[in-house]
Amino acid sequence: MTDVAVIGVQWGDEGKGKIVDWLSARADVVVRFQGGHNAGHTLVIDGKVLKLSLLPSGVVRPGRLGVIGSGVVVDPFALLAEIARVEEEGVRIGPDNLVVAENASLILPVHAELDAMREGATTGVRIGTTKRGIGPAYEDRAGRRAIRAVDLLHADSLAAKVENLIVHHNALRRGHGAAEVDAAALTAKLKEVAPKIAPFVKPVWRILDAARKAGKRILFEGAQGVLLDVDHGTYPYVTSSNTVAGQAATGSGLGPRAVGYVLGIVKAYTTRVGEGPFPTELNDAIGDRIGERGREFGTVTGRKRRCGWFDAALVRQSLKIAGVDGVALTKLDVLDGFDELKVCVGYDVGGARYDYLPAGLDAQRAVRPVYETIEGWKGSTVGARSWAELPAEAVKYVRRIEELIERPVALVSTSPERDDVILMKDPFGV
Ligand code: GDP
Ligand code: IMO
Ligand code: MG
Repeated sequence: MTDVAVIGVQWGDEGKGKIVDWLSARADVVVRFQGGHNAGHTLVIDGKVLKLSLLPSGVVRPGRLGVIGSGVVVDPFALLAEIARVEEEGVRIGPDNLVVAENASLILPVHAELDAMREGATTGVRIGTTKRGIGPAYEDRAGRRAIRAVDLLHADSLAAKVENLIVHHNALRRGHGAAEVDAAALTAKLKEVAPKIAPFVKPVWRILDAARKAGKRILFEGAQGVLLDVDHGTYPYVTSSNTVAGQAATGSGLGPRAVGYVLGIVKAYTTRVGEGPFPTELNDAIGDRIGERGREFGTVTGRKRRCGWFDAALVRQSLKIAGVDGVALTKLDVLDGFDELKVCVGYDVGGARYDYLPAGLDAQRAVRPVYETIEGWKGSTVGARSWAELPAEAVKYVRRIEELIERPVALVSTSPERDDVILMKDPFGV
């Protein structure tokens, strides 16, 4: 059992793209199993930057099969735009190296519009979403009125399905004071795009089953992070999918033993985009310094990411919830040059001590982090590829984090570049 799932452990943007790209050298198939084009995964290969949203990061390596599983919500227009964009960068995409699950639900323009209407409304909770229509698309999937990829292959029955969906959306749109949508026009738009998407649409469960039988190595690529999980995250300030490793099985169509090793991606400090509680957030010069050194601006929306100290209590909790075996600690280099670093080891709530973040928004907003101070380091860790290249204090920081989070650090990442990685334990076991 060597198949590996990579998941984010904090609030997303931990550096999953870089690590998946690095690991895909050892994999045959790379599978996205949840989320959609709210994800922004950055790869840097010999100085060249490539940003992927829907496409599995493995597609950049020749000979790898990229799979968009049934747990993903797929915007067909965004998918074609992304394929065109990466092809301009020299990455060839075709039905031989990309498949989309027949049973994946589609994101349509009505979803992004509804997402934006809700975010712009003066009533209701503003989540700070990416406005890509992720939440509304998952709602329609659970509401059993979604249009799925396979529906694009059946032109005759498409109109009735779109009609059924649009009746629902027009009621919502009237409530928001927005113009109604014409179902026939949307059907025509989908029929236009269908021939371009159809060659990719296949029974992913069969392809993955065959890949397993043939001894191929499968790498599952998570999007977002455990703290954005719809069940386990800081609800309601979360995304609308399960981001934990168990979703790799559900969102691809392989059984619960699909994953042999779960690699959690953990940033050496903490960031968050959008609204919601963030106990170790730094609204000061230190937060600004981390944000500047780490270039913490959203890949998808360009928004400034909120920055703060490493929260070991929250990471420990996330690792347990998600079933993580080992960790890739990323962006260690961003912490170069600090005299001292702080790490949150628990919380104080009105004099009571917690070693985890309690559920419930009121409690999550009330917690005060309890910090441990760790000595910083003077030298540079940028681009280090072995322990020996790290200053002693940086090694101590990693070791202390390892103790606090109760999981081993398998990899350390020291720059955005593909190969700037310190390897302790190969997740594929080779
Ligand atoms: P993802 O969503 O988890 O794939 O992460 P993003 O790509 O949204 O954000 C991570 C950012 O950090 C990207 O700009 C990466 O190029 C960059 N990055 C990844 N690993 C490292 C690292 O070890 N050091 C530094 N300085 N940057 C990194
Ligand atoms: P990657 O895969 C960071 C956040 C949004 C918002 C909340 C809900 O690059 O790590 P949504 O559009 O999903 O309904 O927004 O989730 N969010 C992310 N934050 N990284 C991401 O993806 C994110 N995807 C969604 O900012 O707070
Ligand atoms: Mg990202």
